[in-house]
Amino acid sequence: MSDLKIAVVGGGGVGKSALTVQFVHSKFLADYEPTIEDSFRRQVKIDEKVWMLHILDTAGQEEFSIVNDTHLRKGDGFLLIYSIIDFASFSEIPKIRSKILMIKEETSNVPIVIVGNKSDLEKQRKVHLSEAQDLAKSFQTPFFETSAKTRYNVDEIFFSIARMIRNQ
Ligand code: GTP
Ligand code: MG
Repeated sequence: MSDLKIAVVGGGGVGKSALTVQFVHSKFLADYEPTIEDSFRRQVKIDEKVWMLHILDTAGQEEFSIVNDTHLRKGDGFLLIYSIIDFASFSEIPKIRSKILMIKEETSNVPIVIVGNKSDLEKQRKVHLSEAQDLAKSFQTPFFETSAKTRYNVDEIFFSIARMIRNQ
């Protein structure tokens, strides 16, 4: 079995932990407890081959951010999460992407998937689908909207990043 290391990054409260726990344990974390750092594992089968996904759930809140650069450098791929109801979290995406590229000492060739979470809260939407699609296109990065609450596209984002890493 081969190992793939995925880091989940993005602003505070966007749903990084909720997405990870929904993917690994199939349950929705309704209560907000800011993460310091957590790690999870789930075995998956992709095209008949078994992989162990090691998922690093990072802190979005700056004051809890103990995940240092050396630690992030170990990520083979990154799920870059914002919340569709929090425009500021979307505005941070280019900056966080640049940081990942800098840490990985690459100019563009790092597996990244951009994710707009909380799609179930359509009435509170602040980030248009089209502007996020345009941004993802400019970075040549796959893009999904998800809901950790309804499980919409949750498996898809983890499989998408796993496939990108594997195909690298
Ligand atoms: P930090 O660890 O501080 O960086 O936050 P986080 O990105 O891990 O956010 P977390 O998963 O803890 O979610 C924050 C809050 O948003 C919690 O109350 C979650 O229940 C809620 N939440 C997360 N994802 C969704 C979603 O898809 N839909 C809805 N309605 N709420 C969500
Ligand atoms: Mg968290």
